[in-house]
Amino acid sequence: MVPKRLLCISPGDLGAIDVLRADMPSWQVSTVRSIDEARSALRQDAYLVGLLMHVIGSQPHLEVERFLRQHSHIQWVGVFRAEAIGAPTWRDLVADYLCDYHTLPLDTRRLVHTLGHVHGHALLRRPRPRPGTSPSALIGSCDAMLRLRSQVERMAKVDAPVLIWGESGSGKELTAQAIHRQSLRSTGPMVPINCGAIAPNLIHSELFGYERGAFTGAARDKVGLIESANGGTLFLDEIGDLPKDLQANLLRFLQDRTIIRLGSTRAIPVDVRVISASHVNLQQAVARGDFREDLYYRLSVLPVTVPALRERRDDLVELAEHFFHLYSADKSPRLKGFSSKAVEAIAAHDWPGNVRELINRVRRAMVMADGRWIEPDDLDLVMPSPPIDAVLDDARCSSERLAIRACLDRTGQNVSRAARDLGVSRTTMYRLLAKHGMRG
Ligand SMILES: Nc1ncnc2c1ncn2[C@@H]1O[C@H](COP(=O)(O)OP(=O)(O)O)[C@@H](O)[C@H]1O
Ligand SMILES: [Mg+2]
Repeated sequence: MVPKRLLCISPGDLGAIDVLRADMPSWQVSTVRSIDEARSALRQDAYLVGLLMHVIGSQPHLEVERFLRQHSHIQWVGVFRAEAIGAPTWRDLVADYLCDYHTLPLDTRRLVHTLGHVHGHALLRRPRPRPGTSPSALIGSCDAMLRLRSQVERMAKVDAPVLIWGESGSGKELTAQAIHRQSLRSTGPMVPINCGAIAPNLIHSELFGYERGAFTGAARDKVGLIESANGGTLFLDEIGDLPKDLQANLLRFLQDRTIIRLGSTRAIPVDVRVISASHVNLQQAVARGDFREDLYYRLSVLPVTVPALRERRDDLVELAEHFFHLYSADKSPRLKGFSSKAVEAIAAHDWPGNVRELINRVRRAMVMADGRWIEPDDLDLVMPSPPIDAVLDDARCSSERLAIRACLDRTGQNVSRAARDLGVSRTTMYRLLAKHGMRG
């Protein structure tokens, strides 16, 4: 059996630790005297469980908090005198960072029991890829996403070219990855090429490779990206940005399934499946004469659209929570999730940058939030303005309240006179007082 390891930080007397050690034969206990020593111990070995022996309330609060925040993946148990958590800051720290604590007089048997329990729990909680939280899963359960996933499944079974259309950040590349992963080619590589990001003068040699001596500086043969995808999938991102002359070369490749490196005459057969993606409407580009029509038809045998995020609002919260968990290593342990106002703000935003924008806002909020809940501010989102009816109601209500308050003050809190001054019956006056939670 692997020994259970405990890191014990004990700035004071070590007597209690010796007693504890005797009661923990199946544990390997390492003791350090300070937080600094603990840091170096943690750099050398991994621990699931740590014990803070009289650290709470006796060491500088800020230092302890910083340390625990940095090592929040460890389950910490505290032992201290009950008075040590008299101050609210220490109480908060115990609530936020410790999974259990014991106060004096110390019952060693109970403490050993707690540590064993916490260790077992830590084993269960050890991070492992959970279904649904993998960075490459297509998350979402609205109709549009269900449709997309079933299209992905069907397209994965065949080898025809796929053309994915969608706004930037909507998940085109992720969709391409999903098709590749579910296809028979999944054991081969998926090679992404961003046609818009490679310098125009390099793109030919990048895609097709070159032979030694093809041009000055070509000291040795270079395999092009298309060739390197052999046996797998070639993902041509932003295909609309491909220069016209390369469109002709790509078309030739799609027809013969061979490439010719620059400076060579030898045709090399390459077996790849082509998936391309574009955020511009290629049909319009064809109509304008910017994109070859014959290439367009070659690439778009299986067209698929990834809907913009604002068209699948029902998935917003699920996605936001997914990224919250995915990036939870970056967050402070006291951060619990999204406040209801934040959820409202997320639902009301238009998400022009789609899922990528959502990821960026959530990650930023996880770093910036200083409360327990992410607020609209942390996401850099504004609260949606309430519908105009609600605004008017609100205004009506507060002027009503002001008028009643003023009238009551004027009449020395005499309800009957105030009612007369306001021109309402006494019954109405009492109803108004009740409505505004006022007393006459
Ligand atoms: N449905 C989804 N579920 C989970 N993550 C997603 C989803 N759609 C997009 N993403 C993530 O959003 C980011 C942008 O997606 P990406 O596929 O690169 O968009 P595009 O290629 O359309 O610009 C990536 O980090 C991707 O993993
Ligand atoms: Mg992309």
